[in-house]
Amino acid sequence: MNHQEQFDALLKSNTPFLALAPMQDVTDSAFWNLMHRYGGADIYWTEYFRVHAVSRPEKWILKSIAENATCRPVIAQMIGNDIPSLIRTAKELQQLPVAAIDLNLGCPAPIVYRKCAGGGLLREPLRIDSILGALREAVSIKFTVKTRVGFSDVREFDTLLPIFAKHSLDALTVHARTVAQMYRLPVHYDLIRQASETMSCPVIANGHVYSAAQAQELLAQTKARGLMIGRGVIRSPWLFNQIRQQLQGEPITYPTGREVLAYIRALWESQASFDAAEKIQCERMKKFINYLGEGVPAPFLHQIRRSQTEAEFYRICGEFLDHDRTMLLEPLAEAAAPTASTLADNL
Ligand SMILES: Cc1cc2nc3c(=O)[nH]c(=O)nc-3n(C[C@H](O)[C@H](O)[C@H](O)COP(=O)(O)O)c2cc1C
Repeated sequence: MNHQEQFDALLKSNTPFLALAPMQDVTDSAFWNLMHRYGGADIYWTEYFRVHAVSRPEKWILKSIAENATCRPVIAQMIGNDIPSLIRTAKELQQLPVAAIDLNLGCPAPIVYRKCAGGGLLREPLRIDSILGALREAVSIKFTVKTRVGFSDVREFDTLLPIFAKHSLDALTVHARTVAQMYRLPVHYDLIRQASETMSCPVIANGHVYSAAQAQELLAQTKARGLMIGRGVIRSPWLFNQIRQQLQGEPITYPTGREVLAYIRALWESQASFDAAEKIQCERMKKFINYLGEGVPAPFLHQIRRSQTEAEFYRICGEFLDHDRTMLLEPLAEAAAPTASTLADNL
């Protein structure tokens, strides 16, 4: 089956499907392939292609599409507001081995929303209407949207939903926070249910999925056909399989401290770049560990954030993780990790 047929099968299946969320600077093919070693998602999203009058699809994202070794479908995401440029890019991207073209209507980074792209477009529903109409006509493969529930107020969703419903989308992912909320709680799961009940296409629930039991509850509560997970699987790549175990009524398998340590090593190797200085590699790893560290008792995160060398980084990891006890890797308040993600704030 090609990517589009695989996605079609997921959308038609009675079993909920699991997606890895698009994450700038994280979800490249190295990360997808690493997730796949732990069971992985049923479908992957690229980080967004920035689209404007003179844009060309970013080479490193094209490389990820070409190097996807997960045997699972990939969806190409775009961000932008210029209709001719979005059409031009979508037509180019749909020639690649991708399952669908997705439009980002959620990015909360000020540099993006001030240009009225990503989450910024949610302030202009009529403009969204025109963009979706034009893209739906131009895209000959599946066309999907990933949205937040409003710019500054959840009540905006009542205006947005009929627009999404109008354009024969193939799937709608709802990250149930407003743009103004950034990554703060609460996630408005009731609005995902509203979308599931309104839309004729499948709805994918997104936002703060962190455990198998909670994932099962969310599927029931939101009536979503799939779950999209971002930071929760950076923290624990075991989460995808744990959710599958939960849905099948099987006992959940948790990793030991040493298995978590092995994941950190695999993450380092997947991110290693030969020309980067050790300190830069360390800084890059800390971005991932910011999430993983939310599930490790304090003062792990505090110490790891101060590490400067590979040896120091691994000494601290060893001190907290070189053991055979199982780990839930769910967010612990005591780990004192930032609620708004450091990475996302930097976008
Ligand atoms: C570092 C980072 C980068 C992100 N980049 C993108 C992106 O390129 N496109 C997008 O639609 N969402 C992006 N997001 C949002 C995620 O896809 C997701 O909607 C959000 O993190 C909520 O899901 P989670 O709680 O499971 O992480 C990003 C989030 C993070 C943390």
